[in-house]
This record gives sequence, C-alpha cells and structure tokens, in this order.
Amino acid sequence: MNECKNNQYMVDVLVLGAGAAGLTAALSLPRGLSVAVLTKDPSGGSTRWAQGGVAAVIDDHDSIESHVEDTLVAGAGLCCRDVVEYVVTNARESIDWLVEQGVAFTRSDANFHLTREGGHSHRRILHAADATGWAIQDALDQQASVSNNIQFHHNFIAIDLCIDQASGPAGKRVNGCYVLNKDTGRVETFLARAVVLATGGASKVYQYTSNPDGASGDGIAMGWRAGCRVANLEFNQFHPTCLFHPDAKSFLISEALRGEGGFLRLPDGTRFMPAFHARAELAPRDVVARAIDHEMKRLGVDSVYLDITHKSSEFIDSHFPTINQRLNELGINMKKDWIPVVPAAHYTCGGILVDLDGGTDLKGLYAIGEVSSTGLHGANRMASNSLLECIVYGRAAANHIAKTISQLDVHDSVRPWDASQVTDSDEDVVISHNWAEIRRFMWDYVGIVRTNKRLQRALNRTQLLEREIQDFYANYRVTANLIELRNIIVVAELIIKSALKRKESRGLHHTLDHPDLSEHPGDTILIPDHKIQP
Ligand code: FAD
Ligand code: SIN
Repeated sequence: MNECKNNQYMVDVLVLGAGAAGLTAALSLPRGLSVAVLTKDPSGGSTRWAQGGVAAVIDDHDSIESHVEDTLVAGAGLCCRDVVEYVVTNARESIDWLVEQGVAFTRSDANFHLTREGGHSHRRILHAADATGWAIQDALDQQASVSNNIQFHHNFIAIDLCIDQASGPAGKRVNGCYVLNKDTGRVETFLARAVVLATGGASKVYQYTSNPDGASGDGIAMGWRAGCRVANLEFNQFHPTCLFHPDAKSFLISEALRGEGGFLRLPDGTRFMPAFHARAELAPRDVVARAIDHEMKRLGVDSVYLDITHKSSEFIDSHFPTINQRLNELGINMKKDWIPVVPAAHYTCGGILVDLDGGTDLKGLYAIGEVSSTGLHGANRMASNSLLECIVYGRAAANHIAKTISQLDVHDSVRPWDASQVTDSDEDVVISHNWAEIRRFMWDYVGIVRTNKRLQRALNRTQLLEREIQDFYANYRVTANLIELRNIIVVAELIIKSALKRKESRGLHHTLDHPDLSEHPGDTILIPDHKIQP
C-alpha cells in the first residue's frame, strides 16, 4: 500500500463505502491487490441498521422458482428475469460465505431459523434475531481489520471521481477519486486501477426516512457527473412501518413483525389491510405503504398502529429484543401496547446502471449494493433481497476485477485539486436551509402519491437550488455538508425527471395523472450529457 505523498495515495482498488457491498467486494479481492476502503462516517451506512434479514432458499419446501416468482411479482413487471435468477441461485453460496466470515444467523436446533416478510410466499429470511445488519457489519468489519491488504480510511468523504478525459475506443476511464479528509480539512487524491462505488442509497432526500444520515446518494451523483447512466430512480421505496414518536428519529419496526403475525390497526382498532390486498399485512411493501398513507389522510390521523400483543412475552424476547428494548426506552411496551407507525423513505431501487459484474459505463468503475440498479428490484424491491444483492454483486465485482485488473494500468498523476480560488464560507445557513427545503418538497411533492403538477413544482425548485448550490461550491472551501448537499440536489432532480418520464402507475411510482399500467413498460434510463425532456 502506498502512503500518502503530496496529498496523493496510490492503490490497486479503491472501494468507496464499507457497508455489506463494499466490504464483501474488498474481502473477496485477491490478497495480492492493495485495497483502500473509505467511509465518510464512523457510524456507517444502512447495513448496520438492517433488521429483518437476508432472503435465501434454504427450506426443503421452498424453491428457487418460488423466490424468483415472488421477486418478479413484487417488482411489478420491471425486474430483469436473468438478474433475478442469477441473484436467487447465488443466494445459498452467499449465505455460506457470510457464515464463513463469522455471521451468526439465528438457529432453531441445527437449522437456520427462517422468518417471513411481505411478498415472500415461504419462510426464507435468515436473520440474527432482529439485528441482522449489526451481525453482518460486525463480522465483515472484523475480517477486514485483520486482512493485511485492506487499509481503512474512516472520516474520508469522496467528492468526485477522477476521469481520464482522453476517451479512446473503450470510452472514458476512471483513475481514482478526490476525497476530503474530514479530520484535516484537506482534499486528497486516491489513484487506483479500479474504483468500486458502494456508497449506499439516497433516502435522505426525503424529510422522513428510516436511513442513517449518510444516505445522501453520493455515489449516484458522482457516477452521473462522471458520465454513467442511471436507471429507475422514480422507484423510491417507503417502508410502511417506521416508529412514530417525537424522540425517535428513523427507527424501523421490522416487517418481520408482520411476518410473525402482527396486525395493522386504525386508531379505533379496525384491521384495514384485508380490504386492500389478499395477502393483507403481508402484501408487497408499496401496497401496504399506500394503504397506510390513504387511511392516515382519510381519517386525518398522525399514525396507524402495529399490534403484536397476542404473541407471548417469551416470543417477543427471543425474536425482537432490539425493537423491544428501544420501545421500552421510549415508554412503549410492545407486549401490551400497539406501536404507532408511519411510512418513511427506506430504499432507493434505482441507481447507477450496471451489468452482471457490477460494471458501469466507465472502464474501471463498478457500482454495487444500493447505489446500483442491477435489474433485481424492478419497480419495487422485495423485503430482504437487498442485503442479498450486496453480497452477490460484491463477490461478482471482485471476481471481475481480479480477472481484468492486469489490463488496467494506474496513472501516476491526475489534475491536482484546485482550491486556489475558494475561501471559507461565512454563510453556512445557506447549506442548512437548502437541505431542509429539498427534503421537505421531496416529501410533499415527490412522495408516495404523485401528480404531474407537484412533480413540476418540485423540478422548478431543484433547478433554482442547483444554481445556488453550484455557486456556493465554486466559491467556498468544501465541507462534508456541502459535498452531500451538492449530491442530494442532483439525485432529487434525477428522481423527479425519472418520475415525470413514467406515464403510468407501477410498483412504487403512483401518480394520480396516470393511474393505470402502461401496456409497454420499460426502464427509465437517463443519460448524462443528453437533454432530458420530461
Ligand atoms: P450502506 O450499508 O448504506 O453503506 C454505505 C457506505 O458508504 C458507508 O460506509 C458510508 O460511510 C459510505 N459512503 C457513502 N458516501 C460516501 C462518500 N461520499 N465517501 C466515502 N464513503 C461514503 N435490507 C435487507 O435486505 N434486509 C433487511 O432486513 C433490511 N433492513 C433494513 C433496515 C433499515 C433500518 C434500513 C435503513 C435498511 C434496511 N435494508 C434491509 C436495506 C439494506 O440495509 C441496505 O440496502 C444495504 O445495507 C445497503 O448496503 P450498501 O453496502 O449498499 O450501503
Ligand atoms: C425490515 O426488517 O422490515 C426491513 C427489511 C428490508 O428492508 O428488506
């Protein structure tokens, strides 16, 4: 591993992000390659907070065909069948790999305990009680920390990819990345032969979200600015059941509660899901989130309720210890009380368009995990298919890099970062104001139910704000907050433009102006450098 000289590092592979996707890729690369893994935030991305689990066909009564079929149904006609089959068939191997890394999935006797979630017609969710992400993140962190070819750089936030502009017949090439060291305030350059975007999703574009603070779509915006196509960004998944409590920011109440028999109730106790879908509480997520939104608006109430009080105290203690503990801290006893819940932005189904190896439009650049659009989720991701996708694609990208890296030389220099024209900002209020404004109008105008008029209103605002943010970026020294704001406005605009292009209601995209399904559905693909006509 080359140390930093003149603010410049040189490695074989640069992995941006240390969640399930990034660490799977880093750990699956040959030990002879030097790997730098960057994280912008020591508390990490979404992986650590995953509750429900990882989907895989394990039970003898289950089948690959059934997992494929359920994923296709949830994806509402837009999944790519080849990709679904590829991921589902690789699930068992991915689970074995996670177990090898030290992930202790909950067992019942000698077998894995399998739970159930919305959209799945069988019990097929492997979990570590209700803190599966914690178990995965800890195990992968531990393995990476003892691996002598992997070097961690915590508190480093990627700003932009370094591109070789002299595009030959093979197209543009990525050489590395400009990165802000948050501890020193200095911008450093990481030169690399291959770069892996594993920066997670963009749900923080919405005012209410289940995601941690870093979900600002950095990888999507960086990839887009560098010249990658993006796909299906109008499909923003709202998780139906986030805790509604003034003191609880972003706390999820896992779908596994409904999988294990929890009921959704109106404030007067009525169960309402059977009226919306044959699978009632276990209908696909988009259906449940829209039903809750509909009932809340119809009745003018702040939340609906999740009731699991009919389960025994021992059952709650063994299946949902984390949720139970958090609710107890907030004065809610889930063994006796109904839990107040609301939908919140949870998952970005679209992202950087990739192939089966996680390869993007740019040579040397990969995108894996929530930042990518693989074709697995279509118009709506099925529960617990995301961690699975992180592992399958993390391993696939590492394999492809191992096979092809000898063809990628490293450039020993790129244009240095130029901070000569900028000064320190004396108006950070602009940043915090713009953050709040974007998240608010995205929630109000680009949320669970959309209209052309609301989308157009939101688009007008992004265009004004984008100019203001760009001006700020050009004149002031970069900070982590400004870097994220510059990314979130790009992602907001891409989401709105994608939503305006889809003239139908499908999966997670529901618009009152086009309530029906189109007969000829297709992916929404946006191409950089092309004027996008909504
Ligand atoms: P993340 O885990 O989000 O990691 C992103 C990484 O990128 C972080 O290390 C971050 O610091 C880094 N990063 C981001 N931007 C930059 C930058 N500019 N520079 C440097 N580093 C950067 N899915 C399931 O399949 N099953 C579940 O049970 C489940 N439960 C969930 C529960 C919650 C509360 C949430 C929020 C999500 C859940 N999901 C679940 C979804 C799933 O957890 C995520 O999709 C998945 O963990 C994403 O992993 P990732 O590796 O792509 O990104
Ligand atoms: C949950 O536990 O409800 C989250 C599962 C997921 O997002 O896949």
